Amino acid sequence: MAKIYDIITNPNPVLRRKSPEIAKEKIASAELKEFCADLAETMIAKDGIGLAAPQVGENIRLAVINTDEGPLCLINPKMKRKSWTKVWGEEGCLSVPGLYGEVKRRKKLKCKYFNQAGEEITIEAEGLFARVIQHEIDHLDGVLFIDKMRPLKNKKEAKKI
Ligand code: CO
Repeated sequence: MAKIYDIITNPNPVLRRKSPEIAKEKIASAELKEFCADLAETMIAKDGIGLAAPQVGENIRLAVINTDEGPLCLINPKMKRKSWTKVWGEEGCLSVPGLYGEVKRRKKLKCKYFNQAGEEITIEAEGLFARVIQHEIDHLDGVLFIDKMRPLKNKKEAKKI
């Protein structure tokens, strides 16, 4: 049975720490595999499209993103090539309930990460997918979207990342 974590909400020092990388020998471990699965289940249960490990109290560089092909687990993700173009887009966050805003993010990027088999993968992302990757990497650096946002003109809900 998957474990559904409680989400840590702002303010909390866990959300503000820069999380260290996961050691190479731990990347393909059964323990981490279970954590990835539980984090993905939690993201789905809480209706989010992304969730980073610090949001459940683990200061490690790992995040899950909900994609059309199912949950994707990014271990030690790093942004590589970034486009110069930035675009505004709406965001919310499971750790900042009830607050939504617009954040300027890079339109396109390349992201390098390790999968649960310990393989190094590079993906290209744009649009919402690129936005979610940037939001999650911010979480791993102790940054929240409220640090960068401008308020929405009309108080509607946005996707929780
Ligand atoms: Co978030």
